[in-house]
Amino acid sequence: MIDLSKLAEPGSIEESLVEKIDFQRMPRHVAVIMDGNGRWAKQRSLPRVEGHRAGIASVREIVETSARLELGVITLYAFSVENWKRPRYEVATLMMLLKEYLRKELATLMDNNIRFSPIGRIDGLDESVQRELRYAQEKTAANTGLLFQIALNYGGRAEIVDTVNRIMTLLREREASDFAIDEEFFAAHLYTANVEDPDLLVRTSGELRVSNFLLWQIAYAEIHVTKVLWPDFRRKNLFEAIVDFQSRDRRYGGVDEPDSRMWVEADSHGRRQS
Ligand code: FPP
Repeated sequence: MIDLSKLAEPGSIEESLVEKIDFQRMPRHVAVIMDGNGRWAKQRSLPRVEGHRAGIASVREIVETSARLELGVITLYAFSVENWKRPRYEVATLMMLLKEYLRKELATLMDNNIRFSPIGRIDGLDESVQRELRYAQEKTAANTGLLFQIALNYGGRAEIVDTVNRIMTLLREREASDFAIDEEFFAAHLYTANVEDPDLLVRTSGELRVSNFLLWQIAYAEIHVTKVLWPDFRRKNLFEAIVDFQSRDRRYGGVDEPDSRMWVEADSHGRRQS
């Protein structure tokens, strides 16, 4: 049962947004492209890494709020396969911030029954980062609430290539020469195997791109773009994204109900029958 008092103070903007949410039609999985840390820092004449540091507070609030909203899954895009091109100091700071976050937040993840799981080419990360990730994953493995996935050294194309290679290895091991795979089988070998696809993809800082994020999984996701920069993104912005999501008409390539009735009732010329 969702405790509304833990989501918003009485009389606050957050409360007015929570009142607009239909808790019967919640997205099960929300994926977020956290963007705009550099611009946030630049606006304040600070080094870029200060934007990343400030972004941690947003991560903390969004993960905790997602647990309180009883979402099934939240996936945050923290470091892409392309991000290695950034200055060495920036990459090192991001990794350091990640380790610090995991160490400091583990207790909160446990208190909120959150299961933590990194996705991406994790074996390409520094051994010290891998160790912290493994530790947090093992400690939270038995938790049954929100699944918190963090995408690290992640690329959507890389994931698809890794999946194909994984399947090829499997088929070689089984000595299967005559084998046709389907979408379900393919999806079951992605990094996100057994995790439902995102219903809602949020991107901060206004850019209209998917940036190689969960390319397979976002096939039918609703996209919400906000101009708010990631370090300024707070629970009220998540509530706004959910309200926006609930205003969409999701048809998965089909038609909505009144239209389908029209199909049944239309004659061969497409004229509607009375
Ligand atoms: C994009 O901003 C953000 C990132 C590349 C990293 C996101 C990382 C964090 C919020 C902190 C570490 C994460 C965790 C989970 C502890 P940008 O630098 O591309 O911004 P810009 O487009 O304004 O330059």
